[in-house]
Amino acid sequence: MKSTVSSDTEIVGISLIIKRKLRFIHKAAKSDKNVLILGETGTGKDLTAKKIHELSNRRDKPFVAINCTDIPGELFEAELFGYVRGSFTGAVKDKLGLLEVARNGTIFFDEIGDLSLNLQAKILRMIEKRELRRIGETTVRKIYARFIFATNKNLQEEVKAGRFRKDLYYRINVIKFYIPPLKERKEDIPLLVDHILRKDRKEGEPKKVIYNETLKILMAYDFPGNIRELENIVERACILSEGNIVTEKDIKLDCDSKYCRKTMNITPEQLIKTLENCRWNKTRAASKMGKSRRQFYRLLEKHKMSDLIKRNCHL
Ligand SMILES: Nc1ncnc2c1ncn2[C@@H]1O[C@H](COP(=O)(O)OP(=O)(O)OP(=O)(O)O)[C@@H](O)[C@H]1O
Ligand SMILES: [Mg+2]
Repeated sequence: MKSTVSSDTEIVGISLIIKRKLRFIHKAAKSDKNVLILGETGTGKDLTAKKIHELSNRRDKPFVAINCTDIPGELFEAELFGYVRGSFTGAVKDKLGLLEVARNGTIFFDEIGDLSLNLQAKILRMIEKRELRRIGETTVRKIYARFIFATNKNLQEEVKAGRFRKDLYYRINVIKFYIPPLKERKEDIPLLVDHILRKDRKEGEPKKVIYNETLKILMAYDFPGNIRELENIVERACILSEGNIVTEKDIKLDCDSKYCRKTMNITPEQLIKTLENCRWNKTRAASKMGKSRRQFYRLLEKHKMSDLIKRNCHL
């Protein structure tokens, strides 16, 4: 839910899209306006938010990431605004909210499109007034943090469907950037693979090598899970590879691809375990398994687990 920026925020790629993205990041870092980052799962929205913070004047201040799907609705306000002891059952001591933890740093609302209409109203008020009140307290405090938002949903569609407030959409959509999927910028794949192999290298060991023939397999694949899926595939290939060379047989793609050799042989038990570990957050569970949300839903359907998910996922 909360994080500080790690040193690894290198953005790799040679495509025009990546060049455009870097220009956007520099512009957004100079400004203090609200930023909205859009894109499918695994396209690099988190990374973009962190990079904007890192290049901004706020770089020495906290970067606080809030995954809006992670915090149960009834706890959201307490987490965000903080509370004083005794203000509700279970409030055994004072707690600082994340908005105050962020101080004059950056606060990143991830998966903003998943927030309930009720909480959207509260967020809107908070952004407009730039003020907060800890639960159980009357003092109004100023908010100094800068806001960045991200979602993999089409917010315009969500607004049309009545699931996302129009006024909130306009409020957060001051500087917007859409990150296209990896399949639209395949020229980035070789550099990304090299980057992943470098990151994955064990201390004292040389970096693994991948030949062009093997790269071709990756270039032909569509990566529904985008760069996160590419990372998983390359990291898995490194584990499977013998010696220093990653070969074709080490590359295991998902079954959408003509290169696929492996079916989705994940068991229901594995699915439940992963979901439990991710507190029934489907996006996180999917990403942990190296699947796109679509693939993950297909897996749930295959194992007839949709009802179980409905029962648990509001938790
Ligand atoms: N251009 C890039 N260069 C290097 N690494 C990248 C790039 N884009 C994304 N990544 C890496 O891909 C992984 C997924 O990126 P990230 O978590 O930012 O995606 P996301 O869009 O937030 O995904 P989700 O919607 O599932 O939350 C991360 O490990 C990130 O560092
Ligand atoms: Mg993310």
